[in-house]
Formats: sequence, structure tokens, C-alpha cells
Amino acid sequence: MAEEIKKEAPANFKVTIDNITIEVAPGTTILNAARQIGGDVTPPAMCYYSKLQGSGGKCRTCLVEVAAGSTADPRPMPKLVASCRTNVMDGMIVKNITSDRVQDARAGVVEFLLLNHPLDCPICDQAGECHLQDLGYEHGKEGTRYEFKRRTFEKEDIGPYIQLHMTRCILCYRCTYVADQLTNNRVHGILDRGDHAEISTYISKAIDNDFSGNMIDVCPVGALTDKTFRFKNRVWFTKPMDAHRDCDKCCGKVTLWQRGDDVLRVTARKDEGGEVQSYEGKPGWICNTCRFDTKNTSDWVIEGPTKINRHSVISQGHYVGLVKPKETIAEVMGGRDPKLLMDIHSVSGVNSVEIAALPGPATSKNFIPESKQE
Ligand code: SF4
Ligand code: FES
Repeated sequence: MAEEIKKEAPANFKVTIDNITIEVAPGTTILNAARQIGGDVTPPAMCYYSKLQGSGGKCRTCLVEVAAGSTADPRPMPKLVASCRTNVMDGMIVKNITSDRVQDARAGVVEFLLLNHPLDCPICDQAGECHLQDLGYEHGKEGTRYEFKRRTFEKEDIGPYIQLHMTRCILCYRCTYVADQLTNNRVHGILDRGDHAEISTYISKAIDNDFSGNMIDVCPVGALTDKTFRFKNRVWFTKPMDAHRDCDKCCGKVTLWQRGDDVLRVTARKDEGGEVQSYEGKPGWICNTCRFDTKNTSDWVIEGPTKINRHSVISQGHYVGLVKPKETIAEVMGGRDPKLLMDIHSVSGVNSVEIAALPGPATSKNFIPESKQE
């Protein structure tokens, strides 16, 4: 009698990242294992994009230290590794925010990424949702050691919907993967090499494919921005709303960026990692009709406010899902009622124009009305 062959489910690998242990399926990268833990443990990723095949391995922002390779071979890896391109092993120990080497290397990578970056955040439409801006705040230095002229490029028109600012590009290749994998006719790519490398439409052909707008969503910086939204508003003044419509080309699930009743911009919905959300295992890329041509609220079924991470500048002024404390003061004070409650504004003169104008530290005691001053 033939022996019954039992197929064993693949064993999970235990990996410890910044002292937090998690079990993941074999074949998972360190970055994706860290994403499953979430929070600060997750390394930043400027070029990797889980929904784009072949992405990753270009920017080095996701470097981590492997303090122990595996249970079978616990030797540390001598160099820092790109977490988006390194698979976990059983018993691996990884350090990200707990490693000074990683923090130091990441600061170096950010310094390199900013060498040629114009740092024009005050006028850049990506400000407030730019991964390089976040990295700059976390790891950037006050000055630059670069003594040469920054790269400049001839202005190039790549069609009616997308604005290319080559000076802001960090050559992550994500947009070329979108063009390769979402559109059937790639007309742009990275030309030349090294210091001369640039994104360009070959012989200046416009990108007019139905899904080309997704390049805007994947660009981690402000190199590719939405021409229909350009200079219209700052993202933190807009109100993002989840909405959908029946679309025969795409999933039709979007975020509307509204100011009052005006829809200023339409984007695909993003997940916690800043990537386009998936529905039933498929990435929710949106078509150009949904993105650029349906900008009336009547075009959409509004589902409700988009959940934005409350630490994001975009959530300023509209904390969606913020839980207000329910306790009364007495409950906080262990059952005792306060004897005296003071309103800070009634006992302090810090908001008084006259007091602020007096020399020296101003208090309500040293305030002399102008009429009595000599
Ligand atoms: S334009 Fe944006 S998405 Fe394309 S390579 Fe440059 S930074 Fe990456
Ligand atoms: S995200 Fe890993 S190298 Fe860019």
C-alpha cells in the first residue's frame, strides 16, 4: 500500500527586530517582517514598493544591522544590509532603531540624497507627504558639506497631467516600474548614468496612458506631481475623504482631497506604509479618468473622512478618530474635587500685546499702562 504523503505546512521563521520577536513565513524580507510589527521599528523605504515587482535595492535608506544571522549560524553580518532585499532566517536578530551604526549610516544616506535636492519644500506640492522631507527632519544635518553646484535640468513637458521636477528626483525607479507594469507602452525611463542620470520621456513623448497618474502616487518626493493640483493648496489645509464610484477601468476607490465642497485632488488610497491600498489581494491603482476628470463631489459616493496617522502634518486641525478622555477632573484626582480652578489666560499676561511690548520679562505685576510711562 502506498504510503500516505503528508504535506507539512511551511514552518514559520522567528525573527527579532529591535527586541520584538515575530513569526513570519519563510521568504519574507526583513522590511516586510518589520512592517508586520509596525511603528518605529519599520525602516524607511524610499525605493521599495511592495506592489511593484523588482523595486527596492536602490536607495539604501532601509539599511539595518543583522546582529545574528540565524539559529543555525548566529554570526553577525559584517555589513549593514538592505532590509527590502534581505530575507529573514529562523532565529535572526535585527537591529534598526536600536543600532547606532544604522542611525549613523542612515544620516549619511540622507545627506547623499539631499546633495542635489533643491530643498524647495516651501513651494513643493509634495510637502507634508514627502518621505524625503520626513527623513530630512529625522536624520538630516543643518548644513551641507557639498561644495559644488547642484544638478540642474532643462525643463521638460511630460504631458497635460504630470509635472516633472527632475531636480527633486532621487532616482528610485518606482515610476518606471509603474510605466512598465501598469501601462502597456512604456515611454519614459532613466536615461544616462551616474551624475547625468535623469528621468525622461524618450524623444519627449507625452505619457498619456490611462494609468500613468499612478506614477504621481508612487513618487516618494515631489519630482512627479499632479498638474491639476499644482500650487492650488497645501495638503494640510485640505480634508481627505474616502469615496468611490463605479468605474469600468479601475477599482474606483479613492481619496478626495477637499477644501469645502471643492475637490482639489483625487488620489488612490494609501495604506500605513504609504503604498496604494490593496483590495482582494490586488493593488487599488486608479485610472486617469477617476484621478483627473471626475472632480465634482456629485461624481462620488462619499464614505467618510480618511483615517490619517495623527502624527502626520495632514491631520493638523482634523484628528480623525481621536479619542477624547472621558474622565472628569475628580476622577483624575482620585475622587477629590479641585479647590480652585484657574483659567491660564486670566492669570497670565502672555497674550497681552502691551505686556509683550515691554522690555524684560513681562508679568501682570510689572505691566505699566502706556499713559503712565514717562
Ligand atoms: S521621478 Fe519620483 S518616482 Fe520617478 S525615479 Fe524620480 S523620485 Fe522615483
Ligand atoms: S527601500 Fe531598500 S534600498 Fe531603497
